[in-house]
Amino acid sequence: SGYITYDEGYGNTGSCESSITFINGEKGILRYRGYPIEQLAESSTFIEAAYLIIYGELPQRRQMTEFSGRVLRNARIDVGMHRIFEGFPHSSHPMAMLSAMLNSLGCYYPEMATNNRERDLECFDEAASLLLSKVRTLAAMSYRMKSGLPFVYPKHSMGYCQNFLHMLFSEPYHDYVPHDDVVKALDLILLLHADHEQNCSTSTVRMVASGGANLFASVSAGVCALWGPLHGGANMAVVSMLQKIHESGDDGSRFIEAAKRGEARLMGFGHRVYKNYDPRARILGEICEKVFAALNKKNPLLDIARRLEEKALNDSYFVDRKLYPNVDFYSGIILEAIGIPLDMFTVIFSIGRMPGWIANWKEIAEGTGRIHRPRQIYIGKNKRDYIMMKDRA
Ligand code: CMC
Repeated sequence: SGYITYDEGYGNTGSCESSITFINGEKGILRYRGYPIEQLAESSTFIEAAYLIIYGELPQRRQMTEFSGRVLRNARIDVGMHRIFEGFPHSSHPMAMLSAMLNSLGCYYPEMATNNRERDLECFDEAASLLLSKVRTLAAMSYRMKSGLPFVYPKHSMGYCQNFLHMLFSEPYHDYVPHDDVVKALDLILLLHADHEQNCSTSTVRMVASGGANLFASVSAGVCALWGPLHGGANMAVVSMLQKIHESGDDGSRFIEAAKRGEARLMGFGHRVYKNYDPRARILGEICEKVFAALNKKNPLLDIARRLEEKALNDSYFVDRKLYPNVDFYSGIILEAIGIPLDMFTVIFSIGRMPGWIANWKEIAEGTGRIHRPRQIYIGKNKRDYIMMKDRA
């Protein structure tokens, strides 16, 4: 075989052509289908942004009604899937349950999960809205299951995020009624996570899709890829880090020094692509106070986060390496304030990223590209001869 270029961690390898999301990491620019993230954050909603990301254009009024109607109609989960849930031990991690359940969805809708591209694409509109809707129900069910609580059915009268909070927190005869600013903050968090070009999980979805696998199998693989602490798990890691700093009586200075010595990592800082302030972190950093005011809460973790940020942005270690806050730095603090348990943070990220995974699957399924098949640089043993068991030590 010919000469193989080695690019560790694909830092400088364009793995595909895509027209979904644009990032300029040096300048801190993020656009979905050409629209700046700041404008979408200000004026759009998660469901509208999902439509934009999946279909490429802002929906016209009729398209929006149809799309959100399909999302609303699809919120319920088959009783058979309730039984699968009940088989999981209570100690199961919600990300493990979510990935397994998303893949199982394909078994309940076999006509949408044929692994035949043309046929899967014929059902794409229904499959996409079904996934967007059911990922939220499955996420809520994984939380209720883990907490030993009965499932709460979705309501037809509620919007996307309100319905999710209802399924998480309502009790029999007592509906959970969130503050409008809380619903908006959650919607914004989802919108800001909706796509981010070829990150680890999205590349995984494309990789799986490139072999011809169906949409459900591909996004289920995306959830697994997202799970790790260097990717979607970072929002959890940020809050654990802040809690530890708080409990140790540190104001953040000791932690910053430990991070500089390589003994700790400042979670929520640094990004493979952004060498500038992550625009999503800026937007979330700005709405923190509003959420805390709506919840009537003071949070020492927010003070620590602000101090860490100030110290890091004025420290040559972080400045020289161009380490700035990323989206996870403030999202976890907001989720914690809303009452979302730590191990559900990455699940919320999965709900948010669903439109991006779906749109990237569609690009692959509609494209003419080859199966993704990277090469490697072999560094193992040279040829050697087999040794019979009797001749081994
Ligand atoms: N704290 C302290 N030092 C850091 C950090 C950090 N958070 N991030 C990078 N560095 C240092 C790293 O030690 C290295 O230093 P040196 O050159 O002296 O060896 C230098 O900065 C370059 O880092 P890298 O690990 O080569 O960068 P990467 O592009 O491979 O990793 C990253 C990117 C996001 C995995 C990394 O910055 C990190 O681990 N950050 C903390 C975890 C985190 O917040 N992840 C969420 C990413 S955004 C959401 C998402 O995509 O899921």
